[in-house]
Amino acid sequence: YKRITVKSLVEMKQNGEKISMLTAYDYSMAKIVDAANIDAILVGDSASNVMAGHETTLPITLDQMIYHASSVVRAAKRALVVVDIPFGSYQSDSKEALRSAIRIMKESGAHAIKVEGGSEIKESVSRILQAGIPVMGHLGLTPQSIYKFGTYTVRAKEEEEAQKLKDDAKLLEELGCFAIVLEKIPAKLAKEVAESVSIPIIGIGAGGHVDGQVLVVHDMLGMTHEFHPRFLRRYLDLYDEMSKAVSQYVNDVKSKDFPNEEESY
Ligand code: KIV
Ligand code: NA
Repeated sequence: YKRITVKSLVEMKQNGEKISMLTAYDYSMAKIVDAANIDAILVGDSASNVMAGHETTLPITLDQMIYHASSVVRAAKRALVVVDIPFGSYQSDSKEALRSAIRIMKESGAHAIKVEGGSEIKESVSRILQAGIPVMGHLGLTPQSIYKFGTYTVRAKEEEEAQKLKDDAKLLEELGCFAIVLEKIPAKLAKEVAESVSIPIIGIGAGGHVDGQVLVVHDMLGMTHEFHPRFLRRYLDLYDEMSKAVSQYVNDVKSKDFPNEEESY
């Protein structure tokens, strides 16, 4: 395999090749995603929702993110592995942010980290970059700030917030980030941002005029089924498929159909 690097992603933007990214939080899923030639795997703090059942991304800890990330790193032979730096591990000051980023890189073997926010966290972003750790930004709907927003609706529909987002994207590029995720913002604004910076813009609910797309893998496989935002395309209905399989197993055990002679020693 030719390993995808942060440089490869920037080159893809230059060549007009769209970047594919999905989340994964564990070894088995990451193996499937990596073998299917995904460009980048995000060990998202959405693990807090998807894996642990929390309502928000806020409760997941740095240790838990490192556990998920190290499992994914062991599976990924080709994809770039990017890890979310979790809420509470980088906001206090830039030294704490660097310490957290170093722990992720050292203890998981991941290739880059992702942070939420713009000008508010610029010292932390600079410090992490100075240590040689590649940083992906994340603007628009930033779930770690959900209690500030109050809802998960589309962000930056008003001029003031749109302007701040554009300024933040420029700032993250100037600081040296290698890419930016834009979540749930108008397609027109995302297009403007993608055209105004030379680093790749990876969208989720940000339309098609950006440099790549990311989705939560459990959502696109239809394993989660109480989440129906417009931006989500479901490629499977795994929730139903898996439910049927488990029910069948329960029935087979109860009815003594399983195991049969061939399945016995
Ligand atoms: O945690 C996550 O899954 C994310 C993506 C939705 C971008 O940050
Ligand atoms: Na995230």
